[in-house]
Amino acid sequence: MQKKVPNVTFRTRVRDDSIEGPNPFRWEHKTSDDYFAGKRVVLFSLPGAFTPTCSTYQLPDFEKLYDDFKAKGIDEIYCISVNDAFVMNAWAKAQGIGKVKVIPDGSGEFTRKMGMLVAKDNLGFGMRSWRYGAVVNNGVIEMWFEEEGFSDNCESDPYGVSSPQNILQALKEAEPVAA
Ligand code: BEZ
Repeated sequence: MQKKVPNVTFRTRVRDDSIEGPNPFRWEHKTSDDYFAGKRVVLFSLPGAFTPTCSTYQLPDFEKLYDDFKAKGIDEIYCISVNDAFVMNAWAKAQGIGKVKVIPDGSGEFTRKMGMLVAKDNLGFGMRSWRYGAVVNNGVIEMWFEEEGFSDNCESDPYGVSSPQNILQALKEAEPVAA
C-alpha cells in the first residue's frame, strides 16, 4: 500500500513588510497539501535546529546540492524539525539558507504521525524527530532513508543514510538506463 505523508497544519512565520515596527512577520498556516501536493520533493528531518551535525553537514550540504537535486526531478527540498517557526527561521537565516525550505513541526504532530517521534530526554530535548529523509511524490512516499537504531534516548546520533549525498546517489541509481 502507498504510504502518504500525514495531513497536518503547520504554524509558520512569514515576512510581511506591510507590518510596521521591528518585527514585520505574521503567522501563516500551511497544510501538508501546501507543501506536498503536485510536487516531487525531498524531505529530511533531524533532531534539532542549531545542533552540530545538522548545522555543519546536513542542512548546508542539502543547500549546496540543491541544483543537483533539481536536475534529478526534485521540485523542492524541505527540512523539518520538532522546533517552532521562530527557531526554524532563525536557524535558516543564521545558516544563510535560501534554497532549502524549513518546516516548523513545533508540536511534533507531523513527526508523530510519520512514526518518527522519539524521546531525547537524555539530552534535555524532550520529544524530537528521529533522523530520516524521504522522496515524496505528490504526498506519497516514494523513497525512504531512515538512520539505523530508531530508539528513545539514543546515546548516539547516527548520520549517513539520510545525508544529501546518499539520497542523491539513490535518485541517480533509480533513473532508467537509456536503451
Ligand atoms: C547533532 O546534530 O550533532 C546533534 C543532534 C542531536 C543531539 C545532539 C547532537
